Amino acid sequence: MDGGGIRLMGVTRRTFLRAGAAAGILAASGCRARVDARTDPGRSGPIRIEAAPAKAPLLGPAEQGTDVWAYNGTVAGPALRVKRGAELAVRLENRLTQGTSIHWHGIRIDNAMDGVVGMTQDAVAPGDGFDYRFTCPDAGTYWYHSHNRSWEQVARGLYGVLIVEEEEPPAVDREITLVLDDWRLDEAGAIHEASFGALHDWAHQGRIGNWITVNGAPPGDIAIRAGERIRLRVLNAATARIFALAIAGHEARVAAIDGFACPPSAPTDSLLFAPGQRVDYLLDATGEPGGRYALLDDAYSDARPISFLAYSDEPPKRTQFDAPPPLGETRPPTMPDPAEALRVDMVMEGGAMGGMGQAMLNGEMTGPRDLAQAGRVWAVNGVAGDLDKPLFSVPRGRGVRIAMVNDTAWPHVMHLHGHHVTLLTLDGAPSPEAGTIWRDGVLMMPRQQAEIALVADNPGKWFFHCHMLGHQAAGMRTWIEVT
Ligand code: C2O
Ligand code: CU
Repeated sequence: MDGGGIRLMGVTRRTFLRAGAAAGILAASGCRARVDARTDPGRSGPIRIEAAPAKAPLLGPAEQGTDVWAYNGTVAGPALRVKRGAELAVRLENRLTQGTSIHWHGIRIDNAMDGVVGMTQDAVAPGDGFDYRFTCPDAGTYWYHSHNRSWEQVARGLYGVLIVEEEEPPAVDREITLVLDDWRLDEAGAIHEASFGALHDWAHQGRIGNWITVNGAPPGDIAIRAGERIRLRVLNAATARIFALAIAGHEARVAAIDGFACPPSAPTDSLLFAPGQRVDYLLDATGEPGGRYALLDDAYSDARPISFLAYSDEPPKRTQFDAPPPLGETRPPTMPDPAEALRVDMVMEGGAMGGMGQAMLNGEMTGPRDLAQAGRVWAVNGVAGDLDKPLFSVPRGRGVRIAMVNDTAWPHVMHLHGHHVTLLTLDGAPSPEAGTIWRDGVLMMPRQQAEIALVADNPGKWFFHCHMLGHQAAGMRTWIEVT
């Protein structure tokens, strides 16, 4: 790592650029971003969430809305908030022309409520509904999204933020949620439908877009006041694009990753957000009244703004800041005893420039041509997306360490359902994250090796896949079983 700073996402931006990932970006600017998704009002019955076609102001409020699929008519969908330990009851109504479901990403949830079509439930048919009811055991920033044809449904807008509040939330003056997304739009500003399912994208980086939105609108100004302490929650809801974020002129402290509180630290390099990942920052507004400071993304190119902190002219609310408050009581997952833990190997292969020979498809060894024909171009341990057998099956409470090898030419972010994991080693070197940072997504650069650990303490069948959702569809997936 350059400069001796922390290495929060396992990799620095420099490594990322060296990895050769490159894509054009068409950044927009000028229009006001919608800040903070809505909080659901007090309620008694289940929250109704309708998945249906809608129009969203992706191009800005002055433009004609873009046809999307959305939860309750907005992208992102309604921001759901519950207290830690409380039950969330949601009635999903499907008004789409395809089957759908909702997955509650990052929640250590009851398996039956995990929303994985083909594994924990059937697709909810058009016109039908489904009742989700579960408790949220951990405070933090989570999200929910479709888990059927997710490479299409999430890309069309079917996602929202789920915030589980601490019993005693930290004292801040303002809370801001930023949901980042990346759309592929055609010249008329409509979603580019012809590229859904395109194997060429799936075999490379995924279906990278050409239009960035922040809270469903073009990047713009985020209104704040000097001297405020802000809790900033950021989610990457894109299906392929990685963001690398830095806040100009500020020392924003990372306070939580993928929902779980971590030792607060101010990154010295831009912070990588792979698809599905969340970071909570504690941000002290130390800028000048009237000032404008960019939120910069330098993942694929030189830094360019994707939003601005726009200070009002009011005098600072305070000029001295106390030490940052802790995020409240958290119950991190148990660290397994490495000596006792089951050891599992997991080799990820395939994709363009990967040179994958054959792999298992529908139970038979299959050559590259037939694999491509079937739309399966990635494999885990030589299996191209077949889900007949789990990666491993363990009794509840067993410690597991998984040695992951990304033997491909592309980055992947492996997301495990129902659990959080910690990074033990990265390319053979012990990770400073071990036992202190818990993630539900692990970003791996090309040819990188990582060892992760968890205690498999949540019974059920848990999907484990790349959250670059085209990769998942094309075979980068498996599952684990906890009995
Ligand atoms: Cu957020 Cu299986 O996904
Ligand atoms: Cu991937």
